[in-house]
Amino acid sequence: MTTINNVIKKQLLINGSWMDAKEYSPLRSPYSGEVLAEIPMATEEETDQAIEAAQNATKIMAKMPAHQRAKVLETLAQLLEKRAEEAAQIISMESAKPINTAKGEVDRTIETYKFAAEEAKRIHGETLSMDAARGGENRLAYTVREPIGVIGAITPFNFPMNLVAHKVGPAIAAGNTIVLKPASQTPLSSLFLAELLQEAGLPKGALNVVTGGGRVVGDKLVTDSRVNMITFTGSPAVGIGISNKAGLKRVTLELGSNAAVIIDKGVDIDKIISRCVMGAFSNQGQVCISLQRIYAHEEVYDRFVEKFIEATKLLKVGDPLNPETDVSALISQNDVDRTLNWIEEAKQSGANIATGGFREGNILHPTVILDADSHLKVSCQEVFAPIVLINKIQTVEEAINLVNDSKYGLQAGIYTDNVHTALDAAENLQVGGVMINDVPTFRVDNMPYGGVKESGTGREGLKYAVEEMTEMKLIVWNRN
Ligand code: SIN
Repeated sequence: MTTINNVIKKQLLINGSWMDAKEYSPLRSPYSGEVLAEIPMATEEETDQAIEAAQNATKIMAKMPAHQRAKVLETLAQLLEKRAEEAAQIISMESAKPINTAKGEVDRTIETYKFAAEEAKRIHGETLSMDAARGGENRLAYTVREPIGVIGAITPFNFPMNLVAHKVGPAIAAGNTIVLKPASQTPLSSLFLAELLQEAGLPKGALNVVTGGGRVVGDKLVTDSRVNMITFTGSPAVGIGISNKAGLKRVTLELGSNAAVIIDKGVDIDKIISRCVMGAFSNQGQVCISLQRIYAHEEVYDRFVEKFIEATKLLKVGDPLNPETDVSALISQNDVDRTLNWIEEAKQSGANIATGGFREGNILHPTVILDADSHLKVSCQEVFAPIVLINKIQTVEEAINLVNDSKYGLQAGIYTDNVHTALDAAENLQVGGVMINDVPTFRVDNMPYGGVKESGTGREGLKYAVEEMTEMKLIVWNRN
C-alpha cells in the first residue's frame, strides 16, 4: 500500500491488475472535509486500456457456463456479508450517508448480487409458431439471448454500492464484461467491490474500474465503438448528453425526478407520517425517487402539515458516522449553495418555509415548504436535497394532473382507502411505477425500476436489466 502525505493512494483496476495512474486527486469527506484517499484520475489512454481489456475478456465471459457466473456472484455476496460493517463505513465516509442507512444499502447490495446470481441461471428465449405465417410451414424457430459484449457503466454517488451492483450484477449474470466509471465523489465503494469480485474469481479484464472526475472517461466510454452498451444512473442533463453522443449503442438511463405522493381524504394521517418523512429526507433527499411534492386533500391537509412538521423537527442532523444521525451533509458545498438559492426563490415568490431552510456547514436542515407555485425550481426541477413541498388539493383528479405536470416520470405514490381512486391513479399517473398506499420512494431490488419522459429509458431490476444487457438472436431450421 502506497501513500501520498500519509493518505492511502488508490489504484485503477485494468485487466485484472491494480495500476498506478498518471494523475491523482484527493477525495474529501462531504461532511468534515477530511482527506479520505488519493484517487486516480484516469486519462483517455488508461480508459482505452480498460476498454481493450474488457473487449479481450468478452469471449471468456460469453463462454463461461451460467453456473460459474452464478457462483462468482454468490461468492461475492458471501464476501460482502463478511465485510458488511467495513462496507457501510466506506459508504458513509465518502458520501455522508447516515451509517444506519448505509448499513441498509449494504444489505440491499448483498441481495442484489444474490438476485443476479439467480438470474444468471434463467436466461432463456422462446420457441416460435412459425407456421402461423403463410410461408413459415415446416420451420422450427427459437430465440436465444446472447451477451451484448462490453458494457460501460457510469454510476452515481447516492447509492455508491447498490447502484453499482445494479449494473455489475446483471452484466456478469448475462456474460458481459464491464468498464466501470464510478461517481467522482464516491469511488471507494466501487474499488472495494472490485477487490471482492477479484477474490470471488472473476476472470481478468471482465471488470475494469477507471476512476476520475471530469468528462474524459465518460466521453471515451460513450463514444468508443468497442463499447456496446452504456448503462448510466445520474442527472437528466448528463443522461441526455450521453444519449445524444452514443449513436447506435444501446443505452439505459436511470435519471432523476421530482417524485410526488397524493394523500386522499379519509386516510389515517398518523399511520403514514413517518413513512412520508422517510420518503422526503432519507439520504438527505439525494434519491431519484425522493418525495419532493406532497398533494394532500383539503380535508386532511391541516392535520398532515402539523404532524409532518412535528416529525421533521425531531430528525437529528450531524455526523454520518453517528448512529443517531438521520440527516447529514449534502454531497458538495455547491449543492448546499444551489438549494439555498432555490429556497430563496421560493421565499421571494411568497412560499412559506415552514421549517428548515438553513445550513450548518454542508448540512441543509430538513426543509418543508408550503404554498409553493408549480413553476418554482423547488417544484419543477429535481432538488436532490432534504426539501419537500406540501400543497393542498380539492380532488385526486386535480392532484394527478399536478403530478403529471412535470418533465419527469419515475415513480409516484397515492394513499387512499378507495379502490376506484387507486385504480384511476394507477391508470392515469404518467410514471414508470405507481405505489398504492406508499411513498414513491419504495424500491426493492428485483422489481422493474425506471422512468418515462426525462426520467430515463430502460429498466433495472435484475431480470429486466439482464434483458437490456443481452441481444436476442433468432434461429430458424428449415425442414422442407
Ligand atoms: C435511485 O436513486 O435511483 C435509487 C433509489 C433506490 O435504489 O432506492
